[in-house]
Amino acid sequence: VLDYNDLEGVERYLEGEDGPKTAAIILEPVGGNMGCVPADQAFLEGLRDLCTRHGVVLVFDEVMTGFRLSKGGAQALYGVTPDLTCLGKVVGGGLPMGAYGGRREIMEKVSPVGPRLPGRHPQREPPRRGRGAGHPGDPVGGPDGVRPPRRGRARLEASFTEMAAAKGKTIVVQRVGSMLTPFFHDGPVRSWKEAGACDTEAFGRWHQGMLRGGVHWPPAQYEAGFVSTAHDEEALGVTERAFEAALDAV
Ligand SMILES: Cc1ncc(COP(=O)(O)O)c(C=O)c1O
Repeated sequence: VLDYNDLEGVERYLEGEDGPKTAAIILEPVGGNMGCVPADQAFLEGLRDLCTRHGVVLVFDEVMTGFRLSKGGAQALYGVTPDLTCLGKVVGGGLPMGAYGGRREIMEKVSPVGPRLPGRHPQREPPRRGRGAGHPGDPVGGPDGVRPPRRGRARLEASFTEMAAAKGKTIVVQRVGSMLTPFFHDGPVRSWKEAGACDTEAFGRWHQGMLRGGVHWPPAQYEAGFVSTAHDEEALGVTERAFEAALDAV
């Protein structure tokens, strides 16, 4: 696994002995499974160039970012087109289905046009469908429901940041679109290495405080929170009050 946002590291790797053996590079175009970690524009653009130059398939896992960050996902937001896109369960908006897609010459290698069946054991396993519920909150309004109005998306980032500063707590709030994470970290988190340096004990105390305030935030520092259209004025207010009270437990 290479470091996120470290284009030089990827370049060194591809130019090293394992480079020619590399079939694909796969990543979340905005990190969600280490908390919300935005990719630098130059990182995604650079990956695109490196993959083209080295004949490596660039795969974006847009299971979280698909629809959520824009109708065209993170790739439309950043203007960087991968060779393959996993949309997985996000496409179902709560129904048990999944999808992936990409360049014609790759997709034509897959059944029914090509010889390959998707799945780990092509002879035995039917094509798999995504977990029904997708991510919590997705079923509320389908793909449109995960992309709330701009003001709602930005509100928690601003209020969390202000409240943490007012109480002198070391928290950095990172957000892209409706994905956000308060990291218990001194300064921005740009990679898994930095995410791993967060104060997870403090996160745990804060999380317990959020629960006491009636808010079930994702129960790990390494999972992005999502604002959806279900989060109305009242729900956002409850979340802010819970956040402020939970800071005292940190
Ligand atoms: C970005 C991302 N990719 C892939 C997966 C795995 O999806 P599944 O549960 O359908 O295997 C998840 C699960 O939440 C995810 O968040």
